Amino acid sequence: MEKQPTIRGRRLELLIPEEEIKRRIRELAEEIEKSFPPEEELLIVGLLKGSFIFVSDLVREIKRPVLVDFISASSYSGTESSGNVEIKKDLDTDIKDKNVLLVDDILDTGRTFKKVLELLQTREPKILKTCVLLDKPSRRVEKIEADFVGFKIPDKFVVGYGLDWNELGRNLKGIYGVIFD
Ligand code: IMP
Ligand code: MG
Repeated sequence: MEKQPTIRGRRLELLIPEEEIKRRIRELAEEIEKSFPPEEELLIVGLLKGSFIFVSDLVREIKRPVLVDFISASSYSGTESSGNVEIKKDLDTDIKDKNVLLVDDILDTGRTFKKVLELLQTREPKILKTCVLLDKPSRRVEKIEADFVGFKIPDKFVVGYGLDWNELGRNLKGIYGVIFD
């Protein structure tokens, strides 16, 4: 286990250790597989950048042919995410008639996730489901839930396992809360 890391001088508190994340991902992979038609290919779409580590661990627990693609979107208006979602890197794959799972690191206000989900829906996939590692339901602005959720967490700013604080902290193996006081 990592020792008391800090970012920009702020202390971090361990909320979810690496082993617990790995264990939960094995469960999620099983639930996900059961929910799609057996033996058909599955296209995993990761939302960059935060989902890159989650996607890489999740796909290795899925025991069927898997395709992987990434999409990058930004919602911006100063420091808070807004309704304006810009696609910065689109998919390379045509998702029409495919079994698709959209994956993100965390569902917060839900703005980015909802916009990307709506965009993918217009491309007529056969099945489109959603999965997030973390869910902060208390922060939700949009009416949206994910089909598969790793962990529900309280309203704390977290880093690690792909999640960043101004681009730092993605390489931490566990999920940590940033202590701001
Ligand atoms: P929203 O759901 O549109 O508000 O935005 C979700 C995105 O905001 C996530 O994909 C993360 O990149 C980022 N985000 C939200 N909460 C946190 C957090 O606690 N730590 C790090 N990034 C976060
Ligand atoms: Mg992010």
